[in-house]
Amino acid sequence: MCGIVGYTGPREAYPVIIKGLKRLEYRGYDSTGVALLNGGLKVYKKKGKVVELEEAIVGKDLHSHTGIGHTRWATHGEPSDRNAHPHSSASGKLAMIHNGIIENYTQLKKELSSKGYSFKSDTDTEVLLNFIEEIKKNNQCGLEEAVRVALKRVVGAYVILLLDQDDPGTIIAARKGSPLVIGIGKGEHFLGSDASPMLEYTKEVVYVNDYELAIVKPDELVLKNLGNEKITPYVQKLDIELAAIEKGGYDHFMLKEIFEQPQTIFDCLRGRLDIMGGTITMAGVQNHITQLKNANRIMIVACGTSWHAGLIAEYIIEELCRIPVEVEYASEFRYRNPVIHKGDVIIAVSQSGETADTLVAIEKAKDQGAIIFGVVNVVGSSIARLSDSGAYTHAGPEIGVASTKAFTAQLVVLTMIAMKIAYEKGTINQERFNHLLNELHEIPNKAEIVLKQNDAIKKLAEKYKDARDFLYLGRGYNFPVALEGALKLKEISYIHAEGYPAAEMKHGPIALVDESLPVVFVATRDSYHEKIVSNIQEIKARKGKVIAIITEGDETITDMADDTIAVPEADEIMAPMLSTIPLQLLAYYIGVAKNLDVDKPRNLAKSVTVE
Ligand code: F6R
Repeated sequence: MCGIVGYTGPREAYPVIIKGLKRLEYRGYDSTGVALLNGGLKVYKKKGKVVELEEAIVGKDLHSHTGIGHTRWATHGEPSDRNAHPHSSASGKLAMIHNGIIENYTQLKKELSSKGYSFKSDTDTEVLLNFIEEIKKNNQCGLEEAVRVALKRVVGAYVILLLDQDDPGTIIAARKGSPLVIGIGKGEHFLGSDASPMLEYTKEVVYVNDYELAIVKPDELVLKNLGNEKITPYVQKLDIELAAIEKGGYDHFMLKEIFEQPQTIFDCLRGRLDIMGGTITMAGVQNHITQLKNANRIMIVACGTSWHAGLIAEYIIEELCRIPVEVEYASEFRYRNPVIHKGDVIIAVSQSGETADTLVAIEKAKDQGAIIFGVVNVVGSSIARLSDSGAYTHAGPEIGVASTKAFTAQLVVLTMIAMKIAYEKGTINQERFNHLLNELHEIPNKAEIVLKQNDAIKKLAEKYKDARDFLYLGRGYNFPVALEGALKLKEISYIHAEGYPAAEMKHGPIALVDESLPVVFVATRDSYHEKIVSNIQEIKARKGKVIAIITEGDETITDMADDTIAVPEADEIMAPMLSTIPLQLLAYYIGVAKNLDVDKPRNLAKSVTVE
């Protein structure tokens, strides 16, 4: 978490940095700060969002051609002005920003305190900065060398950017475990947690790897490893356009991204699904088809919304491929001692491709001989690069903190993977395969139809916005959709919500039901339909309010429920791609009705790069 930006070159650094920070606010917005080099070092920082800093420093001297900026998601130390980055070293000559966690900072702090250092903040960052300064002083070396020596002692994850007032024009950067992109311009360089701060200036970027150090000047980029050996930067071309990271007339990124889904699902299918030829082309799957179809077991590792996509994929893969699937929370998987056999296939699902828990979990599994297949949205991200093979979800940049379009794209990719394995393995016949191809092909149009319910869902949101709790229930493929609906509501509206398998309700949660509890049933027509109808009756008998997501024309549930939202008929395997959308809209409009910042909900960050 935390967003970092840097610039060195002929432009005014401050506007470039501020604009970049606004684009990176999805990574955290507890505080904002900039450090600018112009003769001396000027550091401005403040608790709150980027715009609050901007307003607070109007009229200050912001002139500079080299600077760094930070938007924080607090780990060590509460969100406050003094804990905001950049931090200044004891001498005041160095400034540093940091994304990550220094795990052995207490030990380093003790060492420094015994040498007379005192600290202005509660952060691990200030400790590391002074540790670097102490080495620089002791070893009488330059900043680059001091950083290299210091990082050999550091346990944890970091991207750091440093300025030294005695070396104007230079930014020293280093990375381990958190993302860092360097944009290459003509006589200028841009640094960012992702490429969004540099999109209008350059399309040429270098993704810095773990244990690499960058010495960045306007007209020179030197990359080294921690052993001081030079590395040739691998320059890649960006294919993101600026429009993709702007709101495009919508009130919020979240709404824009919900409405993009017909297109993003289409983009995800494009070039892969061939209805006429009756094929699915996915090079990443094809290259590992032998291992995939012969896998004794597939493990899906992910967090949050991506974990929900994994749960749906478990049902689909087991149904179509007859391969046992386990779905793991990456944060649990990485710390226990999981049994991994050589040749096990791990599918890592991640929008950002930077989630620390998922990244470390797959590193561990890879060391034990597992094949890692990445289903990732952000091209060139750490998980994508660590995977042996994979398939991108092609949903485009997702800026709203709550994941929406990335989720449906994950479902589409995971479904195609399952279909392809099943076809190659012979566990489904050509007729079923063709049927599923046609069904998938129809999903973008059907998603468009679901979005036409926008106004009706907005009204529902008004009706239910004051509820204290919500229950979300579903069966089969729609059970993880219930979990996802509850997660969206919690994140965006701060209303307590729980998702459950509908039949599990009678084993406890039914005690919560009274006339004030809205219960959202994800009840599209599928093989569990009669069962879920009974579950709805059980809730109605206890005076609960039922909101049901149903298949168009389902009179049975319409007659029973207080409110219904209908989605087009679809094969039950693909129903979640449609039934999720009304739940995203419901959460969004309840958040808006409560006047909350839906794109930046409290305490959250989009890319969770701490454990
Ligand atoms: C929920 C949400 C999070 C993420 C989770 C994993 O709306 O966005 O739960 O799904 O932090 O992130 P990725 O998919 O980037 O690994």
